[in-house]
Amino acid sequence: MIFNFGSINVDHVYRVAEMPAPGETLVASSYQKLLGGKGINQSIAIARAGQVPVHVGAVGGDDHWTMEQVKNFGIDTSHIAQSADPTGHAVIYVDDAGENQIVIFGGANQDLKPVQIEKAFKACHGGDHWVLVQNETNLLADIVDQSKAAGFKVAYSAAPFVADTAAELIDKIDLLAVNEVEAEATARLLGVEVSEIAVPEILITKGSKGVEFHSHGERHHHPAFQVDAVDTTGAGDTFLGSFLAGHSQAAEIGQSLRYASAASALQVTRPGAAVAIPAREDVETFLKQQEA
Ligand code: RIB
Repeated sequence: MIFNFGSINVDHVYRVAEMPAPGETLVASSYQKLLGGKGINQSIAIARAGQVPVHVGAVGGDDHWTMEQVKNFGIDTSHIAQSADPTGHAVIYVDDAGENQIVIFGGANQDLKPVQIEKAFKACHGGDHWVLVQNETNLLADIVDQSKAAGFKVAYSAAPFVADTAAELIDKIDLLAVNEVEAEATARLLGVEVSEIAVPEILITKGSKGVEFHSHGERHHHPAFQVDAVDTTGAGDTFLGSFLAGHSQAAEIGQSLRYASAASALQVTRPGAAVAIPAREDVETFLKQQEA
């Protein structure tokens, strides 16, 4: 089982021809209100890949729209609390190249309560469980400490990068998931090269250059599938969730990297973050087309 202590956002997505310069006012060509947040995006990717993650999070108590959205994906949502704070949100610009700029407001994501950790873990008995965290919620140190005390493995997505949090967690985690920029920042923080970051497993997504996965001294690489990207928002979340769904069940690493590469390649061909994450059948069809 995978417990994902993760953010849930309302994404306000504005399409622009190009990113605004400082002091510039631009007219957006479209606006959409969509489900997002690194945490829930990762949970959806896990669910799309075939597992039922337990998502532990919080939304604003009066926010029925977001709760309705999260129920549509086959995630266990029974540990999503209602907060007195408003649901977290993100303001996202996506340009014609599919690149994005994102500003987030934490809101209810920063209002997780210690009792939620206790309640979530009470629901599971023994076995090889994984806990996934990112930098968009509070309580990370408590979640990681209690996960380790319970004998669970911890995957940490160090995004958005927060140096103090990364420094605090790095010695306790089993898998670090980063993009190239976050990998460099982590290495600088530790005063080592990226190749010397001392975690049991590290997943480094490199966009069009593919992905590297280092596991207990073994290096694996998978190239990126070439697609025409319309929106790269949530691609890293899709990769991590899709990969962890297989990896947490001891699937062959090459297979898990291949599935996750295909899922994130397809995801960037669709607009939005959560809603763009492809179903397993679509990923399998895409992989067959690649082989043909
Ligand atoms: O990784 C993409 C996500 O980052 C968006 O959905 C946004 O909500 C922010 O959390």
